Amino acid sequence: MAMKGVILAGGLGTRLSPLTKITNKHLLPIYCKPMIYYPIQTLVDAGIRDILIVTGGSHAGEFLRLLGDGAEFGLKHINYTYQEGEGGIAQALGLARHFADNDKIVVVLGDNIIEKGISGQVREFERQPRGARILLKKVDDPHRFGVVGFRGKKIASIEEKPKKPKSDYAVVGIYMYDSRVFDIIKTLKPSHRGELEITDVNNAYLKRGELEYSYLDGWWTDAGTFDSLLRANNLVAKKKANCRI
Ligand code: G1P
Repeated sequence: MAMKGVILAGGLGTRLSPLTKITNKHLLPIYCKPMIYYPIQTLVDAGIRDILIVTGGSHAGEFLRLLGDGAEFGLKHINYTYQEGEGGIAQALGLARHFADNDKIVVVLGDNIIEKGISGQVREFERQPRGARILLKKVDDPHRFGVVGFRGKKIASIEEKPKKPKSDYAVVGIYMYDSRVFDIIKTLKPSHRGELEITDVNNAYLKRGELEYSYLDGWWTDAGTFDSLLRANNLVAKKKANCRI
């Protein structure tokens, strides 16, 4: 079955200013490659060859200059689209409706970098008849993320950046959805930070009893702050990533 990939690489990267004054966050270096190379590789390693990049801001043209037709990664198709303003992750994802064209999608936040692959989890989602699948990782600082609460082995709740997290399990920025995600996005209302939240999308699937999860193997980091950007660089350097691509 066809499975497509969507990388969300918009936003203004304000938490990284002035690094992001003259470029997009996802083009900043992580060890020997621009940040965006890592989520692309995550999808390619999971067998996904048809990818949409959603970007925004003043430097969107640079993605084309850097990635071209995607052949360097062995991609069949690379597509680009543009998010106006700062409407949030779920709004950016809504722009992928045409591209997805009723196929299942794997969505990766452009600043999420992982040590190992997601092939196993993507195969599990392929076998899943409908709904969504999120990836969880135990972390020391859950209040920075979407956090799940469990009832037994089932997810009972997901809260965005809770002051009192119900567990140590963060929702990784890699999400798998069936095509009904686009109808769900249309029903969302902006959160207190004025954005359409991906956590609200996941809660909508949870309410329908159609949210599954897998655990992520290996380390995971985002790279949207000075500290996490440094951590991402150190983790990748230690892994001795293949720097020839
Ligand atoms: C976003 C999501 C959050 C998720 C995180 C992963 O947070 O809203 O649920 O855990 O990505 O990186 P943001 O990067 O917008 O703070």
